[in-house]
Parts: sequence; C-alpha cells; structure tokens
Amino acid sequence: MTDLTTPQQLIARSNRLGSDPKNTNYAGGNTSAKGTETDPVTGRPVELLWVKGSGGDLGTLKESGLAVLRLDRMRALVDVYPGIEREDEMVAAFDYCLHGKGGAAPSIDTAMHGLVDAAHVDHLHPDSGIAVATAADGEALTSKIFGDKVVWVPWRRPGFQLGLDIAAIKERNPQAVGCILGGHGITAWGDTSEEAEQHSLWIIDTAAEYIAANSKAEPFGPALEGYAPLPADERRAKAAALAGTIRGIASKDALAAGRGMVGHFTDSDVVLDFLAAAEHPRLAALGTSCPDHFLRTKVKPLVLDLPASASVEESVARLKELHEEYRADYQGYYDRNATPDSPAIRGADPLIVLVPGVGMFSFGKDKQTARVAGEFYVNAINVMRGAEGLSTYAPIDEAEKFRIEYWALEEAKLQRMPKPKPLAGRVALVTGAAGGIGKATAKKLAGEGAVVVVADLSLEKAQAAAAEIGGADVALGVAADVSDEAAVQAAIDACVLAFGGVDLVVNNAGLSLSKSLLDTTGEDFDLQHRVMAKGSFLVSKAAAKVMIDQEMGGDIIYISSKNSVFAGPNNIAYSATKANQAHQVRLLAAELGAHGVKVNGVNPDGVVQGSGIFASGWGANRAAVYGVEEKDLGKFYAQRTILKKEVLPEHIANAVFVLCGPEMTHTTGLHVPVDAGVAAAFLR
Ligand SMILES: NC(=O)c1ccc[n+]([C@@H]2O[C@H](COP(=O)([O-])OP(=O)(O)OC[C@H]3O[C@@H](n4cnc5c(N)ncnc54)[C@H](O)[C@@H]3O)[C@@H](O)[C@H]2O)c1
Ligand SMILES: [Zn+2]
Repeated sequence: MTDLTTPQQLIARSNRLGSDPKNTNYAGGNTSAKGTETDPVTGRPVELLWVKGSGGDLGTLKESGLAVLRLDRMRALVDVYPGIEREDEMVAAFDYCLHGKGGAAPSIDTAMHGLVDAAHVDHLHPDSGIAVATAADGEALTSKIFGDKVVWVPWRRPGFQLGLDIAAIKERNPQAVGCILGGHGITAWGDTSEEAEQHSLWIIDTAAEYIAANSKAEPFGPALEGYAPLPADERRAKAAALAGTIRGIASKDALAAGRGMVGHFTDSDVVLDFLAAAEHPRLAALGTSCPDHFLRTKVKPLVLDLPASASVEESVARLKELHEEYRADYQGYYDRNATPDSPAIRGADPLIVLVPGVGMFSFGKDKQTARVAGEFYVNAINVMRGAEGLSTYAPIDEAEKFRIEYWALEEAKLQRMPKPKPLAGRVALVTGAAGGIGKATAKKLAGEGAVVVVADLSLEKAQAAAAEIGGADVALGVAADVSDEAAVQAAIDACVLAFGGVDLVVNNAGLSLSKSLLDTTGEDFDLQHRVMAKGSFLVSKAAAKVMIDQEMGGDIIYISSKNSVFAGPNNIAYSATKANQAHQVRLLAAELGAHGVKVNGVNPDGVVQGSGIFASGWGANRAAVYGVEEKDLGKFYAQRTILKKEVLPEHIANAVFVLCGPEMTHTTGLHVPVDAGVAAAFLR
C-alpha cells in the first residue's frame, strides 16, 4: 500500500468506495488527495491536489479521470472570491490553478476538496447518509447518531461557498471526521487515504445501522388495498401493454426537439413495496432531493393513481390525463422559478413513471441514461424510507431544485455534449439477425445510434450476435420464430421491456428452397410462406400496435428480394412469398401512414458472403446451375450485374439505414434495389 503514489492510492480508494452501491449512487460523489511532487519547471517541491474530475464513476475511476491542481493557487482563490452571488465565476478560475495539462476538467465540487484542510477528502451520496440529510430534524439526528464526530451543514448548492463552509466547520471542530450535508450527502476526511476511507464507511454504516435499529415499522405507511404487486408474469404483461403509451408520454417534447427517449423498466421489490404502501403518492409528490438524483429523474415522477387491478385501457386513459397534469405542473414549476437569464425549459414530460402493482419506467437519451435514472429513483426511494422511518422526509425546496436543474453551469455541460448520432433515441428490432444481412443491418443501426433487438430462431446465436454488436445497453438477443404468433409477441414484449418501445422494425428473417414446380411440396410452399409472408405480417402487426400507442411514428422495412419482381425457373415458393412481402410494403404504407409510420423495402440480390441461405445448399445448387465453383459464386453474380460489383450484406444494411435515417423523411411504399444493377428487376 505504502508503495503506491498519492494518486494511485486515491484511485484504489475511489474504486473500492464506488463499487459498493451502498456508498454512493452511480457516478455520484468525488474524492481527492493532496500531496507533494517535484515541479518540473523549478525542480522544487510543489503541493498538488488530485481530485476526481467532472463526469465518470468512482467505481471505475482511472488516473486520467483526475484533475490535478496546484494547491497554492487553489488556496489563493479565497482572496479573490467575490462572494456567493458570483461564486460560479470560480469554476473558470480553476483552469488557472491546473498543474501541467491539468488532467480531467475540474468539477463544481473541487473547491470543497481543495479548501478543506485535510490530506484526503471523500464526498459521497450514500442512501443512508442522504436519509439523515433529508430528515426534517436532520441536524438533531446528526448529533444524536454521531455525537460531535460528524457535523451538520445546512443545505447549500454545491460550489465555492459550500467549500468554504465545510473548511470552516473542519477548523472549528478538530474532533470531527466529516459532515452531513443537508438535503444532499456526506463529506468525510482523514490524514491518510485509509483514514478517510474508514471515516466515510463509518458514517455510512453508522447511519444505516441507526436507521435499521430505530426506524418505525412501516415507514411508507400501511398497505394500500389493491396496490399489492401483481404476480410476476401478469405485471410484465401489463408493463409491456402499457410501455408504448408511457414511452410516448415521456418522449413528447424530446420528439418535437428531434428524437425520442429510450426506456428502462424495473419491477424490483424496492419499487413495488413503495407503490404498495399508503404514503407513496405524498412522498412521490415531494420529489427527490440529492442534486444528482433530480438531475436524472426530474424533480418528481408521474405516478399512476389506479390500483394494480386497473385494466390496460383504464390505465392508458388515466395516464394520458395525468400526463397533461404533469406537464402543466412542470410548466408551473418553471414559470414560478425562472428568471430572465434562465435557460429555456427543457421539456415538461416525466423521466420516471410509476405504475402500482407493475413497476417503474425510466427514460433517458440512451439506454444507459434511462437505466441510471431508474437506479437513482431507487436510491431516492431508499432515502425516503430512511428519512420517514426516523422522522419526516423533507427534501430541499423547489426553488433550490430549480436553481440546480437550470443552473448555467449545468446548461453549459449539456451544451458541451457531443451531437447525437442519427438514430440515437430509436429502438430497432431486426428479425433473422443472428447472421447474414440481418446481423449486418443490426450492426449498422446500432453503429448509427439505435438500440437493437436481435431476434432469431436460436437464442444462443441471437445473443452471440447481440454481444458482438454491443453490451446490454446497446443490443439484446431474443429467440423468436417469426411464424409463431405468441413468439413474435414475446419478442416485441422483450423489446419494449428492455428499451421502452419500438420504432424501427426490419423484417429480414427468411430461408430459401430452390425447387421446380413439380418438386415443390405443399409443405415447402407453406414453410416459405409461414416464415416470410406470415412471419413479417405477424411482426409488423405486433410492432405497429406499439408504434400506434407511442404516437412517435416509426419505420417498418422489409428485406424483400429481386425475386419479388423477377421471374425465373425453380423458385415458385420463395419468389411467390417474396412478392407477397413486397405487396405488404405497399399495403402497410397505405394503412400506417396515418400514424406516421413509413413502410419501405429493400430488394437485394446475389448476397453470397455471410449469407446462411447460400451456405446451406442454395449456393451449391445455384453454382451447379451456373456451372461455377461455389466459392466463385459471388464473383459470378457480380459479372451478371450492370455495375459488375459484388453485393455484400453491408450494402443492404446501408440501404436500410438510408430508408429509416434522418434524410429520407418523406418516402413510404418504396422498394430500393440493392443488386448492383439487374435490368430485369428494374421497378416501374
Ligand atoms: N442473400 C441474398 O442474396 C438475398 C437476396 C434477396 C433477399 N434476401 C433476403 O434477405 C434475408 C436475409 O437473408 P440472408 O441471405 O442474410 O440469409 P441468412 O440465412 O444468413 O439469414 C436469415 C436468418 O433468418 C433466420 N430465420 C430463418 N427462419 C426464421 C424464423 N422462422 N424465425 C426467425 N428467424 C428465422 C435464420 O436463422 C437466419 O439467421 C432473407 O429474407 C432473404 O430472403 C437475401
Ligand atoms: Zn454531491
């Protein structure tokens, strides 16, 4: 341990603290260490502060995530500090304290770390500590629980002044090991890295033990008649049936600004227990308190005020009414608190939607953000349970929440975010995507920013393809035989529960039998039609239901074929069902346009590489028919084309992206040939 450098010790401590969710919420809190190094400019010792920079998570923090500042210059800021009204200006001044290139960008909490006179400082957001911090009598509780070892600091927005406050408290209380920051979290310190860590853990565990030993029996009140959780399969079915409507609600303003929200669903016990108890409506309305929490969850959630037994239809109707009320309430909050220099309102829709007996939907610009918003609301529930168990939950007031939510520094952070990818915020489902054209398409859509569900016959292969595309926040593999109506519904349900809804469906699953009329059996014919004509009908139908509920438009894309228009021998079953798919495109384009859903198709031809269809006999057959070696079939097909180019799965994927991408907004009912030019298959 002693062999580690100061920043190495800091990283090790941060990773230990951050990897246990009892200590801090995801990406919440920050840590620091002070030490001496040789200044390469003077050759003399220089006192430095290493502090976790803006963004990132303590659990996975690396040295590159640390800001490095010169302590003499940091401390000198006290002399130029213009007072609390202009404390935000100090953030820009941190740039003039950087050592070398300075590492990561300093966060707003840098002052607290630099000004407190202790070698090692931890600022954390533990549920147990925030429970004490948000209790109505938090100050009295703090001295009762910790004696004079931990000092109460009344709520103050993070910034330079809070740093000065804590520094003064430490100076006045040499016996103290840390403090409870009202409404917010904890800060602890130590002379060594080990000591700071011990002090942090002692505060967190002591608070948790005190809550466990002293909490009233039912912190959320008695059970509410009719609000107990539904059985697991029923609540997931109801969640899936409500998901489209709820995502539409969460996405209204986001969509108007260019893109929808990605969703996350959880029916964990913490959420279900909260919703089953009498006090949940009052507590939910009070909103979250820790700045980290409400920046990700909005000040309050939308709570469906119907019992678990309410039907889907009743629930949908009530959710729509509550959405209007939520929007009016949020607009009121903005209007009451905004000043002429406040940033514009950022959308009035909820990020958290709670459905009693069923669970919680959370939303964000991508899956990770949506998931973390849900995690933060679970943190907030834990905080409310602890605070109500000991006292009364009393979060910071709305004017303070507004000052943080619409803080110029927060707005600047949002403005610095990279421009989203073209398909960001969109949920795609590609059938037959374990290989070939389907996998290339799923990969392309994910690469352009969509989250994707890879559906195929084999769960193992679907999951392997999904893993190749990205982690659980990007791609999900599901098993689905598209010719089986129940399996298709299950795949759509899995999609909406994983990502909140569905916007973009690619009907790609298929297989090909090349047989003459006389050799084609009735079963051959049925199989081709079951998988391609009926399969894509079933997928389109189940997906369209969600798209209509969402009121967010959508895209359905069919991978038809050159053979949907081209007539040749030995292809009766395959080509007939491809023609059926092609006409589905036109039929559904005509029908779904009223809902803003575009339906288009791609006509590939001669995609040999990567294609399972060609690998499983069709290729050998075609090669024999044309008198070429199977390995040369791709080149052979290329020579038949006008452009003399081989068509690869990626070329089909590119066409799918163009059809559903940001440029092609006014086209529906179209088929795009991707065949390197086959005159006999020109469309007219
Ligand atoms: N390869 C070409 O030249 C070509 C040309 C025109 C059209 N197409 C069409 O493109 C699509 C993809 O073909 P590919 O060449 O990538 O073939 P492929 O065999 O590599 O991919 C088809 C995928 O569909 C899956 N699948 C089959 N039956 C299914 C079912 N009942 N439910 C769910 N998944 C099922 C398969 O497991 C496979 O992963 C097909 O619809 C095909 O007809 C291909
Ligand atoms: Zn904090």
